[in-house]
Amino acid sequence: MSTEVTPKSPYNVKNPYIARLKHAHDLTGPGAVKHTRHFEIDLAGSGLEFTPGDSLAVLPTNDPDLVAELISVLGFTGEERVTNPKGVEVPIRQALWESYSITDIDNKLLKAVIEKTSGNTAVTGLTDPERKEDLKRYLYGREVIDVLLENPSAKFEPAEWVGVLKKLIIRLYSISSSLKAVPEEVHLTVATVRYESHGRARKGVASTFLSERLTASTPIPVFVNPGKGFRLPAPEEDTPIIMCGPGTGIAPFRSFLQERKATAAKGKAWLFFGETNQSSCFFYREEFEAYLADGTLSRLDTAWSRDQAEKIYVQHKMSENGPELWKWLEQGAIFYVCGDASRMAVDVDRALHQIIETSGGKTTEEAAAYLEKLKQEKRYRRDVY
Ligand SMILES: Cc1cc2nc3c(=O)[nH]c(=O)nc-3n(C[C@H](O)[C@H](O)[C@H](O)COP(=O)(O)OP(=O)(O)OC[C@H]3O[C@@H](n4cnc5c(N)ncnc54)[C@H](O)[C@@H]3O)c2cc1C
Ligand SMILES: NC(=O)c1ccc[n+]([C@@H]2O[C@H](COP(=O)([O-])OP(=O)(O)OC[C@H]3O[C@@H](n4cnc5c(N)ncnc54)[C@H](OP(=O)(O)O)[C@@H]3O)[C@@H](O)[C@H]2O)c1
Repeated sequence: MSTEVTPKSPYNVKNPYIARLKHAHDLTGPGAVKHTRHFEIDLAGSGLEFTPGDSLAVLPTNDPDLVAELISVLGFTGEERVTNPKGVEVPIRQALWESYSITDIDNKLLKAVIEKTSGNTAVTGLTDPERKEDLKRYLYGREVIDVLLENPSAKFEPAEWVGVLKKLIIRLYSISSSLKAVPEEVHLTVATVRYESHGRARKGVASTFLSERLTASTPIPVFVNPGKGFRLPAPEEDTPIIMCGPGTGIAPFRSFLQERKATAAKGKAWLFFGETNQSSCFFYREEFEAYLADGTLSRLDTAWSRDQAEKIYVQHKMSENGPELWKWLEQGAIFYVCGDASRMAVDVDRALHQIIETSGGKTTEEAAAYLEKLKQEKRYRRDVY
């Protein structure tokens, strides 16, 4: 197994590297039901290093339109001076844009609104310990702006208002490039979070910072978050690898494949990719086809969930190829999975159990023990979110 460790970096949450965008393009095409974008961020001269399997922490800024709306709803001008979390005095407009979380509803904020709200409203008593389920239901799909709009009697002074907000925090993105293939750049594969709730269009803070608000001159504060054990085998090892990365879960595997080509890695490599539609969502198609042609990739199996009436997912493709997948596991393959934690990774785990039972001729208990052993041997690796 590779013991490659990302060198200790001078950059961290307190001292991020201020990068700039070099290039970006959409990975999703016309008619796609989602928007996923490829980003190339310039690292020239930074000395910032990473290893395939690491992720990049990005500190975004908020949507200025939402900042303006909040200021208006709060009755401020935007010029009121407040002290930001670094202890610097700035106009509240700037503080709300760059320093505070202005979407997530924190308990502290909710309590402050309840205290200031006259009469009985939807938030009255919501923070009582016995009303946890009501609170969860209330919070679902709501943001800070909704609490203010629904409780107009809650009035705040500017300093008091920032005092109830949490700090704006970083978001992690799996790195989708290798420094050996693309020096002095870091690539990301990001799904833009946009949805509607309670009659309002919502935007994920960091994913829309990247996809809607970046120009070539926008500062992008970043640092590397080392991947916990999500590592390739050493290139001279003959270990086969199986990569399962539907959606943005493909990101670390693009990095793996770039690295494997650059280091002429020996073992076989099998990629499972899934998205909604082949015509609009086959991310990095030409690259993967070139890797198939030059042998960097031994197999590519794709699952297009919405190209037919019945859903076809990566785990269906795994099961279809159960005997071959079992053979690879028996040959010592490492199985990697990246992407959605709540549904996909659970179903992929279930499929693995079934393949081991059916193709490996094992009982349910034996299959569970086999997978447990894979985990102990670090041959079943998950990077799920
Ligand atoms: C290790 C790691 C690696 C990651 N790698 C990637 C990657 O490579 N690519 C990638 O795109 N993402 C990746 N993510 C996810 C990423 O970090 C962010 O969580 C994601 O981009 C959303 O951030 P945001 O700031 O845009 O959204 P936020 O402002 O954080 O909003 C997201 C929140 O919106 C709410 N929400 C979202 N959709 C709905 C809905 N339909 N209805 C109601 N509420 C909803 C949920 O509460 C959700 O938590 C990774 C996460 C981790 C932990
Ligand atoms: N924290 C956040 O705010 C945030 C932001 C972005 C992404 N994410 C998470 O990251 C995931 C990745 O998002 P993404 O846009 O890259 O892709 P995605 O939503 O995971 O979709 C990729 C493919 O996986 C399919 N899929 C859905 N359920 C599945 C299952 N149970 N098993 C296997 N495949 C399944 C989808 O099909 P269908 O859609 O046709 O069912 C689609 O074809 C999201 O699902 C979400 O959980 C979280």
